Amino acid sequence: MCGIVGYTGTGQAAPILLDGLAKLEYRGYDSAGLAVFDGKKITMQKAVGRLKVLSEQTHDGEMMPGTSGIAHTRWATHGAPSRINAHPHSNVERSISVVHNGIIENYLKLRNYLAAKGYVFESETDTEVVAHLLDYYYNGDPIEAMTKVMHRVEGSYALGILFLDHPGEIYAVRKDSPLIVGKGKDGNLIASDVPAVLKYTRQVYFIQNEELTRLTEKDICFYNVEGETINKELSTIEWDVDAAEKGGYEHFMLKEMHEQPKTVRDTLMPRIRDNDVYIEELGMSDDEIRAIHRIHIVACGSASHTGMTAKYVFEEMARIPVVADLASEFRYRDPILEKNDLVIIISQSGETADSLAALREAKKKGVMTLGIVNVVGSSIAREADKIMYTWAGPEIAVATTKAYSAQLIAQYLLAIKFAEARNIIGKEEVAELLKDLKKLPDQIELLLHNKGNIQRFANRYIAAKDVFFIGRGIDYAISLEGSLKLKEISYIHSEAYAAGELKHGTISLIEDGTLVAAVITQEKLYKKTISNVVEVSSRGAFVLAVTNEGNTEVEKVADYVIYIPETSHYFTNSLAIIPLQLFSYYVSVGKGCDVDKPRNLAKSVTVE
Ligand code: M6R
Repeated sequence: MCGIVGYTGTGQAAPILLDGLAKLEYRGYDSAGLAVFDGKKITMQKAVGRLKVLSEQTHDGEMMPGTSGIAHTRWATHGAPSRINAHPHSNVERSISVVHNGIIENYLKLRNYLAAKGYVFESETDTEVVAHLLDYYYNGDPIEAMTKVMHRVEGSYALGILFLDHPGEIYAVRKDSPLIVGKGKDGNLIASDVPAVLKYTRQVYFIQNEELTRLTEKDICFYNVEGETINKELSTIEWDVDAAEKGGYEHFMLKEMHEQPKTVRDTLMPRIRDNDVYIEELGMSDDEIRAIHRIHIVACGSASHTGMTAKYVFEEMARIPVVADLASEFRYRDPILEKNDLVIIISQSGETADSLAALREAKKKGVMTLGIVNVVGSSIAREADKIMYTWAGPEIAVATTKAYSAQLIAQYLLAIKFAEARNIIGKEEVAELLKDLKKLPDQIELLLHNKGNIQRFANRYIAAKDVFFIGRGIDYAISLEGSLKLKEISYIHSEAYAAGELKHGTISLIEDGTLVAAVITQEKLYKKTISNVVEVSSRGAFVLAVTNEGNTEVEKVADYVIYIPETSHYFTNSLAIIPLQLFSYYVSVGKGCDVDKPRNLAKSVTVE
């Protein structure tokens, strides 16, 4: 997730901008840059790697005199982490400088449009399109040019902008990406997050979607998308810096759970056009997709649970055989891979040692590899033959939530693409599936709203000794993830079982009061899983069921029921996992565990 800071006032801008960026470091980034305006010219500096490099390069900002400027920490999405792709980006004359958070979904179309008009691009970023588009529309009035750009771009953005012929001014606008304005004593600031401005002011304006702002040393004006002036209320920030970095949430895990609607949207929407799926980065024609006879999905931990879900989805939807494998097993098994196989490696960090080794093993055997990775430029992203990014932004809590959700989306899209190419589903079915996918962000939001009830339920189980998760098919994959979430952050022993397997041994562990979480979202398996619920409850289990809206039959056999909104049976994991994440989180909080950094665990497992 990128960070934005901007300042205009009486002080020197560069040190203030560098300091503000440092406060946003927790968000993760791979490069940084700033543009400072001394009233005559705009100077730019960029660096790859830590902020320290940029500070050294600019002598802590001293070699960039000027009292207004914008700055950015970049988390690569479009284009590798490099100096040239780092922000700010400019028009050719260097008279407009732009920093951007978010994703311009139609950037390729706009890039082609502008290139045809003679615009030359330096970077691979979607942001550069904005700089040239501003140039295209600019006629001396920044607000007018910005509103015209807003009508052309699709996606999410928070933008900070300098115009050479408007000294002492900075401009900003947002849509679906956070942005605030800080009202300081010796100048005013913009930032993507509150911590960047707290040293200078606690008085802030929260910019809403499609609102624009113009800042000078003394004034702050706001406009709507029509360019009309609007009034906004000043708020006072009461949080301390540490809390503010978590955006007001108590833990990063809670914050990241709440980011899931956005993560899902960002991973999904740029790949949907005209009721169809476009995964341009695959660079594969339908004929090439049809030539694939078998898929291996290889990963570790939660990522492997998304792979397990995808196995069910691919096999049923695209009728292609899928082997879902653990990377630590795959790498040493001398797996049988054939010419027409595809190996998909899934990893948030892109650095997990076993997953990387599995990728290398597959490449050694000469099969095509595809990485589904969150961290741009990571080892798996670099080494896989094809790469499909999940746009979840940096994930800080050890327990993955938003990256998990994004991995599911990436695989649903791939499955639809394969099913369509293999002529198993037609245009109408694709359109129906996409309709359901597009609803997921709002449905996740709805489930997150129910957190109070789940917290109350979780509080009853902080002393639990064992918890079991059961389900069949995709519900089994969901159970695996629910169980892992709980054990890794609450240290409560838990196991996930394919519901039909229980009676082959595990059911002997069920005692009076044992909590069993039953996931029942697959309609064709309702009856079967309900029978398993009866089996455990008749042995004394307390049953929490997660099921689809309308499946009220479950209330007859379960003690506590959580309903998920209606969606295609392929996508229920994306919804059913939300209450299970919340349950684990609140059990962990209730027990006083270190939620974000559970004992013995690391965010990125780079050793075997
Ligand atoms: O970075 P990766 O996605 O490759 O990590 C894989 C697992 O280590 C990871 O999912 C782990 O299981 C999480 N801590 C689960 O929350």
